[in-house]
Amino acid sequence: MPARILDGRKTGSEVRLELLPRIARLRAAKHPPALAVVLVGDDPASAIYVRNKEKACEELGIRSEKLTPPASITTGELLDVVQTLNRRPDIDGILVQMPLPRHVDAGQVLLAIAPEKDVDGFHPCNTGLLVANQPGPRPCTPAGVIELLRRDGIPMAGQEAVIIGRSDIVGKPQAMLLLHEHATVTICHSRTSNLPEVCRRASILVAAIGRPGFVTEEFIQPGATVIDVGINQVTNADLAERLLAHDAARLENFRRTGRATVGDVHPGDAARLAGAYTPVPGGVGPLTIAMLMVNTVAAAERRAGV
Ligand code: GUN
Repeated sequence: MPARILDGRKTGSEVRLELLPRIARLRAAKHPPALAVVLVGDDPASAIYVRNKEKACEELGIRSEKLTPPASITTGELLDVVQTLNRRPDIDGILVQMPLPRHVDAGQVLLAIAPEKDVDGFHPCNTGLLVANQPGPRPCTPAGVIELLRRDGIPMAGQEAVIIGRSDIVGKPQAMLLLHEHATVTICHSRTSNLPEVCRRASILVAAIGRPGFVTEEFIQPGATVIDVGINQVTNADLAERLLAHDAARLENFRRTGRATVGDVHPGDAARLAGAYTPVPGGVGPLTIAMLMVNTVAAAERRAGV
């Protein structure tokens, strides 16, 4: 049987549309929700992510405000930007797009965001709420993965879930969220021994490492659900030919433009072996944005007391 494609565009759109009555209620209570996005410097990938976030806000009638300090900003100056946003009553959510320039202390910046405005769920207070399984904002990408699995009817309780990657943004919170869904969870990383063998145990495999096409057939248990969190730009022709060999249209597009967006999973291997998988693009990405909208609306509701 061919693998089922988990359509993140469709599910993301459903999640976003469900917010409309909640946004209307906030507006009626004279508390229109508002998100501030801080984009430091001019990293092209970050600029695209931020543009997509702004577009999602616009479509839903959430006010968004973009601040674009230069890459030369100091930690102290960025802390001032965040503290000004913390104090502003007309701002419900604050998002500082990662990664930050190397000379900026990202930990200090994330700690400075008021926890009640932390729509990324990165503040240690909110990490604590996640670990304790108490209500609070959850990091958008791993929360989006759970939403996608739930809405596609993929069981998590009692399943072996393996996550490749131990980042604070995806791997670690993903492990907690899957644990709260009663999965048996393993986190793998660069020092894991026998990585393909450990991954083959998984009935739910989540790849979040940022290496194009790293997860190949020997990592995938036939019939498993494969979730690809990676978003990588590929310009190397050999790699693109290898990853897109099964997809004539995308290969042709690469040959024309010299670039392709691919995930951490070899898409042909996932299509051939998995029971269900998320494509890149169009899988997890749209859910990340949808969950940011959910977190922004929830922050506004808490602040408005509705
Ligand atoms: N960079 C990559 N993913 C994210 C995210 O979810 N939030 C922020 N703030 N930065 C990111």
